[in-house]
Amino acid sequence: DDEANLKTRPPVVTIMGHVDHGKTTLLDAIRSTNVTGGEAGGITQHIGAYQVEINGKKISFLDTPGHEAFTAMRARGAQVTDMTIIVVAADDGVMPQTVEAVNHAKAANLPIIVAVNKIDKPGSDPDRVKQELTEYGLVPEEWGGDTIFVNVSAKQRMGLEDLLEMILLVAEVNDYKANPDKRARGTVIEAELDKGRGPVARILVQHGTLKVGDAFVAGNCFGRVRAMVNDKGRRLKEAGPSTPVEITGLTEVPLAGDPFMVFEDERKARSIADKRAITQRESDMGANTRVTLDDLFK
Ligand code: GTP
Ligand code: NA
Ligand code: MG
Repeated sequence: DDEANLKTRPPVVTIMGHVDHGKTTLLDAIRSTNVTGGEAGGITQHIGAYQVEINGKKISFLDTPGHEAFTAMRARGAQVTDMTIIVVAADDGVMPQTVEAVNHAKAANLPIIVAVNKIDKPGSDPDRVKQELTEYGLVPEEWGGDTIFVNVSAKQRMGLEDLLEMILLVAEVNDYKANPDKRARGTVIEAELDKGRGPVARILVQHGTLKVGDAFVAGNCFGRVRAMVNDKGRRLKEAGPSTPVEITGLTEVPLAGDPFMVFEDERKARSIADKRAITQRESDMGANTRVTLDDLFK
């Protein structure tokens, strides 16, 4: 991409951590903090991702339903997230899946923010969490390291603003960019067959701008964007980088982690999807090929 075409985009954030340490509660708390009165988002619509806005700056959260989905996406080569929040319950401390989360984040080279959760609970010990995590190379800034720790209570909604501020700080330092002025590319976050609407896919747009009417390939499927809504259920005509959207207009149901890419017309999209399906089958039968949309587009 031409440097001149790159524009700052919102960071895409995932939340990981040990079972029951409060990932879902935290995601819900952040989301509801940010819902303004008049928005359709008051009706929570689950699209696997949402966006919040703080002082005019957006943050996209991916609601990965656990490590398995995240691992599956990574295995499929999908790089969807810019940074990760690792949630650790202050009354429970570092547990096996906390360590797994740290390892995932490090392997993916992602900046980490540690959210020390449940600080409202009697017996919670945030300093012990810090101590334990230093063993895994996460040393808090106040102890001379470079990992940001934020104390929160997802349940009592304490520390959420601090956490969001820290996310924006990390985003500013890393200056995430994309070119909005080209055909969209992204990743399928979730997809399903809806009784009334047919195949529905939730997409994270990562590059370019997705528009209603665009012909696209999603994994081995193709289609044309019939309708597009954001996480608040609002209809969109277009969506730029880092925007999670739900689209209809697919011919089949793609898989989470599938690449998504817009082409000049539906005929082209169909032929790319077909070629991709064939090479996929060959590779499933043992041929040592891994074909990306880029390869096919060459
Ligand atoms: P899994 O998705 O099953 O791994 O769990 P999770 O990490 O999403 O945890 P979840 O948000 O479901 O929270 C687990 C339990 O901890 C629930 O009973 C929450 O109400 C509780 N909980 C979450 N955050 C807090 C908190 O800040 N304080 C207190 N006291 N309880 C909390
Ligand atoms: Na739980
Ligand atoms: Mg959960």
